[in-house]
Order: sequence, then C-alpha cells, then structure tokens
Amino acid sequence: MNAGIIGVGHYVPEKVLTNADLEKIVDTNDEWIRTRTGIEERRIASDDIDTSHMAYFSAVRALEDAEVNGEDLDLILVATVTPDYPFPSVACQLQERLGAKKAAAMDISAACSGFMYGLATAKQFIESGVYKNVLVVGVEKLSKIVDWEDRNTCVLFGDGAGATVLGQVEDGKGILSFELGADGTGSKHLYQDEYIIMNGREVFKFAVRQMGESAVNVVEKIGLNKEDVDYLIPHQANIRIMEAARERLGIEEEKMAVNVNKYGNTSAASIPIALSEDVKNGKIKEDDLVVLVGFGGGLTWGAVAIRWGK
Ligand code: UT7
Repeated sequence: MNAGIIGVGHYVPEKVLTNADLEKIVDTNDEWIRTRTGIEERRIASDDIDTSHMAYFSAVRALEDAEVNGEDLDLILVATVTPDYPFPSVACQLQERLGAKKAAAMDISAACSGFMYGLATAKQFIESGVYKNVLVVGVEKLSKIVDWEDRNTCVLFGDGAGATVLGQVEDGKGILSFELGADGTGSKHLYQDEYIIMNGREVFKFAVRQMGESAVNVVEKIGLNKEDVDYLIPHQANIRIMEAARERLGIEEEKMAVNVNKYGNTSAASIPIALSEDVKNGKIKEDDLVVLVGFGGGLTWGAVAIRWGK
C-alpha cells in the first residue's frame, strides 16, 4: 500500500507588501533585499484573517481537488508555529469547520520543516492501513510574530497556507522515501521570544549544507540518482540557499520551484504553496520524480521523494 498526494490547494492573503513599502518602515532598500534574498514582495494577512482561516481556505481547495469530503477524513495534521491559540490546535479548528467528524487532529511544531514532518507522519498512518484519508496543511501568519523594527528579520517573512490530501495511490507512485532530522544544539540560532530572533549567517550555513544533503539522500534511498530528479521544491527562504541545493543536485534552473520573490519565507507553508501552484500550472506532471526539502528552527530538516500521480 502506497501513500501519495491526491489533492493540493493553497491560499495567500491579498495584501501585498513590497520592498519599497518596507523602505518606509525600516532602514533597508530594495537592492539589498533582492540581491541577498531574492524577495520582491510578500503577502500579509489582515487582522480578521488568522492562521486557522488561511488553513481552512487552502484545505477546502485541496479537498475539492482530491474529491474527498470533510467527513471522510481520518486525520488532520497542521504544521504551524503561529497557531491562533496555544490550544485548541489549528487542526481542531479545521476539524470543526470542515465537518470532519471522525478525524483525529493535531498540530505539528517543526518550524519551516513542519510540512515535511506532516507528510512523513501521514505516510505511516496510511501505509500501515490505519487511516485512509489524511489532510496535511502547512500554514503561517508570521506577520504577527515579526518585529517590524528589526530589519534583519522583517524583510524576510510572509503569510500563507498550502494544503494536501493524502490517500492510497497506485504501486510505484506516491511518497517513496523521506528523511527527517533535528539538531537541538542549534536552537539558539532561530527561535521566538516575543518575536522571531535569528542568527542569519549560522542558519544560512546550516541550510546550504542540509538541504543539498537531504535532497540527495531521499533520492539515493530509492536507488535512484540525482539525474533522475524531475522537479525540486526547496523551502522558499532565500534564493541563494535554494540555488545551492539545486547546484548540489545538478539540475537545471527551470526544474526548481521559485516563489520566494512573490511570497517571501512563509515557513511551513512555503513548500505546499509551491507544490499546489506548480501542479496547477503544469510544471509537475504525472510520473515526475519530485523532491521536496526543507529546513528551519529547531533546528530541523526534512525531505521527501515523490513519484507524482494517483
Ligand atoms: O526559514 C528559515 C529561516 N531563516 C533563513 O533562512 C535565514 C538564512 N539566512 C539568510 O537568508 C541570510 O543570512 C540573510 C538574508 C538573513 C542575511 O544575508 P547575509 O548575506 O548573511 O547578510 P549578513 O547577515 O552578513 O549582513 C550583511 C549586512 C549587515 O551589515 P554590516 O554588519 O555588514 O554592516 C547587516 O546589518 O547587511 C545588513 N542588513 C541589512 N541591510 C539592509 C541586514 N538586514 C538588512 C536589511 N537591509 N534588511
């Protein structure tokens, strides 16, 4: 029995915050932000749209795409570090709004790697035969934990949500391998006190090393080579980090998902938003070998290799 993604959906808030807008708030400039990060603009949720609302909008789209009803869900996993409340979980709020009466529900806290942890968890429940339909959402409203006076961080982040429905797929398709990891000794480099605190250079070095390594590992685990990768979706944190991962795999520019320019770093949401966009615009096709890879606070990391299709 193989677990795979049978539906995708995403939601980003309407309000656009450009680099020029940020120039009016902190001592920064468009040139610095573009060249150091690749970010041109990001989306910011309004006060009345919280994390659970964005999660819901993306989940409805993914369920429609998968042709699965809320009441047929067995499990809801929400990767986020910006829940509406410490508890109840965003997953429980979704459970109510989706009418997913029989679904178990919990949030996953693994920062930007959270969606990878969610996919790997869903795979276990489906392939053991315990559950049939699992909803995995990555969602963040980072704008509420960003210090808008700190130019080191406020230019980087954005809000949004991406959702996937996982179920059983044909032999040879679906999530073929994964890798998850953590290094708590690096927790001091990226954490939330009241706001996000980050040692950018340390996180950068870790990310460049780990993304390339994990991406290669999940491909080798299934007995394939870097050359077999059709599409790479790296966590959208910084174009320079993403490019390093692409170069490590040795794949062409057009085979890597890039939306960091439009949305900035949306943490746990960045990979599922890119996945949803690129399935819908046809960049990801049936039978493609797709590698998803993320890293984040914790420190944490994770990668997944998927043979696309149902
Ligand atoms: O999801 C995981 C979350 N985190 C990440 O992925 C972050 C990983 N790290 C990075 O992406 C990069 O380290 C940053 C984009 C955060 C910074 O880029 P960098 O090339 O590592 O720059 P830096 O930290 O070495 O700073 C260079 C200079 C500093 O000035 P001095 O000390 O050289 O005079 C900063 O003060 O750039 C300055 N600076 C800025 N200048 C204009 C820092 N932020 C800004 C800013 N605008 N927004």
